[in-house]
Amino acid sequence: MCGIIGYVGEHQAVPVILDGLRRLEYRGYDSAGMAVMASDRIQILRAAGKLANLEELAFDQPLRGSVGVGHTRWATHGAPTEANAHPQVDASGHVAVVHNGILENYSQLRQEFRESGVALSSDTDTELIAQLLGRESGTLEERVLEVFPRLVGQFAVVAVTRDEPDTVVAFRQGPPLVVGLGDDENIVASDVVALLHRTKRVIYLENGDIAVVHRDSVRITDLNGQVDRMVETLDWDPGRMDKSGYRHYMLKEIHEQPDAIRNTVRAYLSSDRTTVNLDGLGFDPERLAEVKRVHLVACGTSWHACLVGKFLLEHLTALPTEVDYGSEYRYREPLVGEDVLVVGVTQSGETADTLAAMELAKEQGALLGTICNVRGSSSWRLAEVSMLTQAGPEIGVASTKAFTTQLVALMLLALALRRSRGLADDLDRELIHQLQRLPLAVEQALEGEEQIYDHATELLSEATDSLYLGRGCLYPIALEGALKLKEISYLHAEGYPAGEMKHGPIALLTDGFPVVAVAPATPTREKLIGNLMEVRARGATVIAVAEKHAQDVSQVADLILPIPEVHHLLQPIVAVVPLQLLAYRVAVELGLDVDQPRNLAKSVTVE
Ligand code: AGP
Repeated sequence: MCGIIGYVGEHQAVPVILDGLRRLEYRGYDSAGMAVMASDRIQILRAAGKLANLEELAFDQPLRGSVGVGHTRWATHGAPTEANAHPQVDASGHVAVVHNGILENYSQLRQEFRESGVALSSDTDTELIAQLLGRESGTLEERVLEVFPRLVGQFAVVAVTRDEPDTVVAFRQGPPLVVGLGDDENIVASDVVALLHRTKRVIYLENGDIAVVHRDSVRITDLNGQVDRMVETLDWDPGRMDKSGYRHYMLKEIHEQPDAIRNTVRAYLSSDRTTVNLDGLGFDPERLAEVKRVHLVACGTSWHACLVGKFLLEHLTALPTEVDYGSEYRYREPLVGEDVLVVGVTQSGETADTLAAMELAKEQGALLGTICNVRGSSSWRLAEVSMLTQAGPEIGVASTKAFTTQLVALMLLALALRRSRGLADDLDRELIHQLQRLPLAVEQALEGEEQIYDHATELLSEATDSLYLGRGCLYPIALEGALKLKEISYLHAEGYPAGEMKHGPIALLTDGFPVVAVAPATPTREKLIGNLMEVRARGATVIAVAEKHAQDVSQVADLILPIPEVHHLLQPIVAVVPLQLLAYRVAVELGLDVDQPRNLAKSVTVE
């Protein structure tokens, strides 16, 4: 995905655009650029690589003007070069656009321009949007009305033209765009984090919307005429957007987990804190009673949360629960009907594959829900029932607090469904009590001893491969721990069910091969201990996540990353914390870019 910002106001555009791009850089950082309106032309600056390169360019070549657009890119079509950076312009240089998304009719459009003799200057699909707009006549809004229907795919576009130097036009089909209504200024951006420090009054554009933005007005239409959109006032604290003294966003967000979990639990507990209260979500009890099956769809870390969710839902509600990657679900013709509750689990609410799976489920009559972290996001708007994780903005590309709050939300959903099906008993009271103690348990998990983590970090930093093992509802935590390590340290790691390891991966083991075992007290720990004895017998080094004084574990582990004991159904939430810290420590040890790992973006809004 990419970061987009457009500014029309009384101030110089460059500082506002660069500040906004810095706040959006987590969305993509292959290249960056901006276009600023001068009285008679469009001034363009672009740079390959990190945003810092564009900032240097802007320092050497200051652009003056109070209307402009900016972009930070995660490359889809075309290598991350200056020529493929946004903004892209049309042949005349009169129109400039920035774009997030992907045009599916890219090839046809390219062929069309090739045949008409237009020399394209980039490999991007975005340039084709600029060329189409440049080829039309009339106002920029009129040009958009002509071009919009010709675009196939996902696109959020912000455009400017030399002919209307006081105007920015934004339009979307797919990836999000939000308009911030400021004092004598208006801002368009991909995400509220880019504008929250300037205004809390926002309008979320819907699919098909076209916004014509001036410094003192915003007019929104769609292909059928003017539309009314609600102005929302955000309650996010801009102060939570910075690192608050931590070296990286990821470390800050790992340490924010106790508060994030506390806020998520509080959001859905009854006032007397004895039951789970999902009434406010729009669950229609009669519609809910028709539900006989559950499908959980997600990608990446959120998919790991769904694997734990399956365990919780089947254990607590007896509802058969399937888990699927969004990218698989959307094409495998799933058996969906009115008796299915489909829940899209997504931090950003913008992951293309998860959204497509949700749209398919909705078309086929499912009761559609979402667990997401961004109010007003596409999944939040698509779902009939939305649970918001109260994690606050998650900027680090590696998801941490969003994951643990997704697990909390899935537990709360399971408890609510359990109660609605008349299954509640003493276990509910115990789990609700322990949910309220969870922040303290996570605080304790965060206090791991330095020398143990130093040793574990050294072991993993020096290995090119590692194996993460877990059983039951902790097998997904083994997967998550391995993903955390892979995505920020670039070291290969594989999560595997401990019982399966002897059916293949055990062949990998040699002296000193690091094996990370997720081994807190659960009904299957004894079996896991047996697997670890097999691992040790082959000379591997075992790093275990377990209670500090777990005698059985200490006999088969070289190191224990300590955690407190909680109910085994809540253990995934606590057990993942040492694995987050360990991955973070290894990446720092290797001197890597923890918050913006290579090739990744915070949310993948293209398929
Ligand atoms: C996790 O650390 C990654 N950033 C990635 O796997 C992420 O979980 C995935 O892209 C899904 O994102 P979403 O939760 O915003 O849908």
